[in-house]
Amino acid sequence: MVRAVGPKPETRRGVRVTRQNIVITGASSGLGRGLAYEFAARGRNLALFARRTHRLQEIHDDLSRRFPASTVLVRALDVTDAEAVEQQFLSAANDLGALDRIIVNAGLGFGSRIGDGNFAANAAVLQTNVLGVLAQSESAMRIMREQGHGHLVLMSSAAAFRGAPGAMAAYAASKSAVTSLGEAMRIDVLDQPITVTTLHPGYIRTEMNEGVDKLPFIIDEKSGVRLLAAAIERERAKAFVPNLPWRPLTSILRRLPDRAVARLS
Ligand SMILES: NC(=O)c1ccc[n+]([C@@H]2O[C@H](COP(=O)([O-])OP(=O)(O)OC[C@H]3O[C@@H](n4cnc5c(N)ncnc54)[C@H](OP(=O)(O)O)[C@@H]3O)[C@@H](O)[C@H]2O)c1
Repeated sequence: MVRAVGPKPETRRGVRVTRQNIVITGASSGLGRGLAYEFAARGRNLALFARRTHRLQEIHDDLSRRFPASTVLVRALDVTDAEAVEQQFLSAANDLGALDRIIVNAGLGFGSRIGDGNFAANAAVLQTNVLGVLAQSESAMRIMREQGHGHLVLMSSAAAFRGAPGAMAAYAASKSAVTSLGEAMRIDVLDQPITVTTLHPGYIRTEMNEGVDKLPFIIDEKSGVRLLAAAIERERAKAFVPNLPWRPLTSILRRLPDRAVARLS
């Protein structure tokens, strides 16, 4: 079940708008790829980005065959390259007409316990999940302000609400930053026809957590993607996916003593 909280979605003259042209970053696998299928099935046009272009090409060919009414563009993009993000988003806007929704989804998972000598792994997580999200948000907001509308979606995590020990430390910190950036941008555009949604998924089985056992309350990719698409379409300020158990659980986690968090990890 998805229960989203926050202000109602953007409407124009009281009519809910369809977000026809949608950008998805990190679309070569997992949740980004799943969302591409969800929105293509609804007849939306897509600009899909990731670094693994052979995967994007396969997705393009399959989507074009199955959903010929949708225009699907695929392009190589490393979200840590802010200039490339700007160029690619502008080029997608040029090719599709307007970017009605931008889903900032690309992300890296686990890093390394701090102090274990693997600075590079944690730096890559922060580079992608924080600076990459910032670069995408910068370009997205500029485009949406110029075109006078849009829906920005940030993929945070249920991990955003409590510092996590071990290999999750940099990841949890990065998602706290994403959630904070989402709140900030939402306040920036309060009086404009631009909507910002921050998603907080719990564990969903994808390549990111392949081979990691015993992840609590994990759901399969298909169910996760279906719930995420529904939450995105609702356009609320934030959503936990699924709402239960993650909404109450994150609220409890925030208050748990450190020792209890250590026992859970
Ligand atoms: N799965 C979960 O349990 C879960 C829970 C909460 C939040 N999330 C978030 O959901 C998002 C998607 O994760 P997922 O589970 O679908 O994992 P995934 O299957 O590993 O997908 C990650 C995607 O991000 C892309 N990516 C990574 N670094 C990139 C970069 N520098 N530039 C461009 N694209 C990059 C990857 O594409 P390339 O490698 O081809 O570039 C891939 O398409 C992430 O932000 C993740 O933190 C996932």
